[in-house]
Amino acid sequence: MLKERKSYKVPRGFRDLLPENVALWERLEGIASDLARQRGFREIRPSLLEETDLFTRSVGEVTDIVEKEMFSFERGKTQLSLRPEGTAGIARAYIQAGYPKTKPVQRLFHIGPMFRYERPQKGRERMFTQFDVEALGSMDPRLDAEVIQLAARFFEELGMTGLEIRVNSMGDGDDRDRYREAVKDFLRPSLEEHCELCQSRFERNVLRVLDCKNPSCIELHQAAPAILDFLSPENREHFDEVRRMLAEVGRETLIDSGMVRGLDYYTRTIFEVHYPAMGARSALCGGGRYDHLIRDLGGPDLGAVGFAIGFSGTLIALEELGLVGEAAPAPAEVYLVAADGDLCAEVFGLAEHLRASGISAIYDVESKSLKAQMKAANSGGHRFALILGPEELERGSVQLKDLEAREQEEWKRDQVVQKILDKRGS
Ligand code: HAM
Repeated sequence: MLKERKSYKVPRGFRDLLPENVALWERLEGIASDLARQRGFREIRPSLLEETDLFTRSVGEVTDIVEKEMFSFERGKTQLSLRPEGTAGIARAYIQAGYPKTKPVQRLFHIGPMFRYERPQKGRERMFTQFDVEALGSMDPRLDAEVIQLAARFFEELGMTGLEIRVNSMGDGDDRDRYREAVKDFLRPSLEEHCELCQSRFERNVLRVLDCKNPSCIELHQAAPAILDFLSPENREHFDEVRRMLAEVGRETLIDSGMVRGLDYYTRTIFEVHYPAMGARSALCGGGRYDHLIRDLGGPDLGAVGFAIGFSGTLIALEELGLVGEAAPAPAEVYLVAADGDLCAEVFGLAEHLRASGISAIYDVESKSLKAQMKAANSGGHRFALILGPEELERGSVQLKDLEAREQEEWKRDQVVQKILDKRGS
């Protein structure tokens, strides 16, 4: 039976990065990894798949991510999920690698895809790239300042201005408990006016109520108590110290006392970088300290702090600021032209010879005429055409045409690599 013809599209919320767009992404990746390496961060490439329970335990059971957004499935007896974020997997890998014993302070970074089943909209995708930076194994407030500074430098390197760095503290231990009670007391009288989700989260995880994106709920939270008023002297000192360090390098931060972040593992410093013109989804970066996550995942009680920048939001902001330049992928340096079809194998061998010397080269595979090949060489942005005809074959030579200088010379085959390299430098 003949199968029905069907055309396939990438699933909703996913996308292909086509060659035309890769150069732009490489620019973001290049800036990210240069900045990270400059500060001693080493690249880690953790697993894309983890046990679901890792995220339930770290991100939190009563969070949007775990309740609604994970791509999860069962294989045998194991519940697995595509990672919705990078921190939990990096902390898991850090413990599994034995770093807490061998070298507890680890500055790590990762650039890669994350998966969340969100409603796709501008800047929100189901598969998206994050630049993730994590400094594990220390409680030193300078590390909080260092990662905030790194995030800010990333956007500055891209030429972006008008961004806001919003900071708050989530406290820790007792101050968090006292704050939670105060939030409950504040919300109780208006609970009925809240959305259903907020009502159901009130008892289970009251801080998530403050994170609701529903405009009418946001309105009800305007006058909510501020956690900074509940901090212990030590946690207040930590918060002030982070801001002092940032002020030391001229970095301005805004206190956003309503910020709670959407993930449960945070303690003390939390921050977001916003591009305010993007409205409700203006956060291009989010992060903070997660001092007990390593312990909660089976390691010792070491501190850690980090952030993740979403590339799609960053690109939207870059576009709106008119900062997306033309970043076309570089064409091959040499286009090989065969004057007749009998020279196919020669051209194939010559291309490999050039590539082995570090010169990128392509040739026609559509049986184009000589004229059409020359046209392709001229219009494709290549620097050189290397033309091989029967006479050149006889003489053991090739015609090297510099398409930029519009000069053509015949060279022996064993000279041509050097000629290209010479001309490249000139
Ligand atoms: P997050 O706030 O969930 O934090 O995500 C960080 C950033 O990733 C967001 O500010 C946003 O730019 C981007 N992002 C999140 N979801 C999507 C999406 N569906 N589509 C496009 N971009 C998205 C975290 O993920 C934490 N792991 C950050 C962290 C690292 N905290 C400590 N270390």
